[in-house]
Amino acid sequence: MPEGVEYEDLITQADAIHEAFGREFKRFDRFAVDRLDPNAGSRLQTELLSEGYSLTDAETQLRELNDLRIRYLGKKSEWTATKKKIGGIVDPQKRGWAGQHLLFIEAGITDRLEKARLKLEETIQGLRAAREIIDVTIPGRRPRRGHLHPITLLRERIEDIFVSLGYAIEDDREIETDFYNFDALNIPENHPARASQDTFYTTEGFALRSQTSTVQIHAMQRRGAPVRMIAPGRVFRRDTPDPTHNPMFFQVEGLCVDRGITMAHLKGTVGEFLRRMFGPKTVTRFRPSYFPFTEPSAEFDFSCFKCGGEGCRICKNSGWIELGGSGMVHPNVLRAARVDPEIFSGFAFGLGIDRMCALMYGLDDIRLLFENDARFLKQFE
Ligand code: DAH
Repeated sequence: MPEGVEYEDLITQADAIHEAFGREFKRFDRFAVDRLDPNAGSRLQTELLSEGYSLTDAETQLRELNDLRIRYLGKKSEWTATKKKIGGIVDPQKRGWAGQHLLFIEAGITDRLEKARLKLEETIQGLRAAREIIDVTIPGRRPRRGHLHPITLLRERIEDIFVSLGYAIEDDREIETDFYNFDALNIPENHPARASQDTFYTTEGFALRSQTSTVQIHAMQRRGAPVRMIAPGRVFRRDTPDPTHNPMFFQVEGLCVDRGITMAHLKGTVGEFLRRMFGPKTVTRFRPSYFPFTEPSAEFDFSCFKCGGEGCRICKNSGWIELGGSGMVHPNVLRAARVDPEIFSGFAFGLGIDRMCALMYGLDDIRLLFENDARFLKQFE
C-alpha cells in the first residue's frame, strides 16, 4: 500500500490522464454519438460517404480504438496505477472524494470508448453490406432471344398438316445397317445406290442413311399395319457442296399402309398437302418414274406457287416445281417389315425440305441454310 499520497496530487494526475485521453480520443469523437439518436447516425453516414471513408478505414480505426482502450484502461496503464494510489490517502474523507472523482472520470472514458466501438462496428457492417449491394435500377442486359431455323419452321408446318390428316410423326436414327438402308428397301447387292461414293460408311459397317425411307421399315416393324406416319429428318450423301447440293440435308418421308390403299389415296393425300401448303389453287402432277422400293413409282410436281403456272424465274418458266418421289410400296418392302402384302397395300412418298425452303424463300444457294450465318438467319425471325 503506497504511503502518504497527497489528495491534490492524485486529483491532478487523474485529470491529466483524463485530458490526455480526451486529446487522443478526438479522432474518434464523431463515432461517440448516441446510438439511439437516429439523426446523429444518418448524419454521420452521409458525412463518411462524402469523404469516401472506406471499409479498410473503419477496420483500422476500430483496431486503433481498441489499442487506445488498453493503453488507458488496461492493467498496466497509468490510470490503473493511479487508481491503486487512492488507498494511500490518509484522510478517509479525502480518500472517499478521490475515489468518486476517479470513478466518475473512468465512467466517462468507458462510455465514450464504448459508444465509439459500437458505432464503428455498425459502420463496418454497413460498408460491408454496401460492397455487396446490387443496384436494381441499372438497366438489364436485354436477353437476345433466338428463333427457329427456317428449316425447322417449314418442318413444323409440314408436320402440322400431316398430323391434322391423322399421321404420326416418327423421329428415327441417322446411322443405319445395310438391312434398313438397302435390303429391306428392295435395293439388291449390286444396285448402284449401294456404291460407297453414295453415302458415308463407318468402319463398323454402318452407313449414314441416304434417305428417310429407312424409317418406313422401322415404323412398320414397331407399329405393324395399318400405319400412317411421316418421318422428317437428316440424310447424308457424298455430294460435293454446290448451290443445289449439300452432303447433309433434310427430307420428309410419308407412309400409309392399310387394307385397300391405292394410287388414288396417294394422289389425294399429296394434293391435299400441297394445297394446304401453297394455297387452294395448287395443282399436282404425277410423272412415271422408278424407285426400288415402290411399284409403280411416280415423281410429283406442283403448279408454281409464285406464278400459278404461267412461268417465272422460280419454276424456270415451266410453270411446275418438282418436289419429290412416291409410289405404291413394293411387296418386298412390306414383307421385309413382316406386313402381309396379300392383305395390306400402301403408298409412300419422300421430299426434300431444304429444297422446298430454298424455293419458297428464293434462295440461290441452299448452303446458306447450313452456314449458321446470323446475318442470314436473322431474317427469318
Ligand atoms: N427416298 C427417295 C429419295 O431420296 C424419295 C422417295 C421416292 C421416297 C419414292 C419414297 C418414295 O418414299 O416412295 O429420292
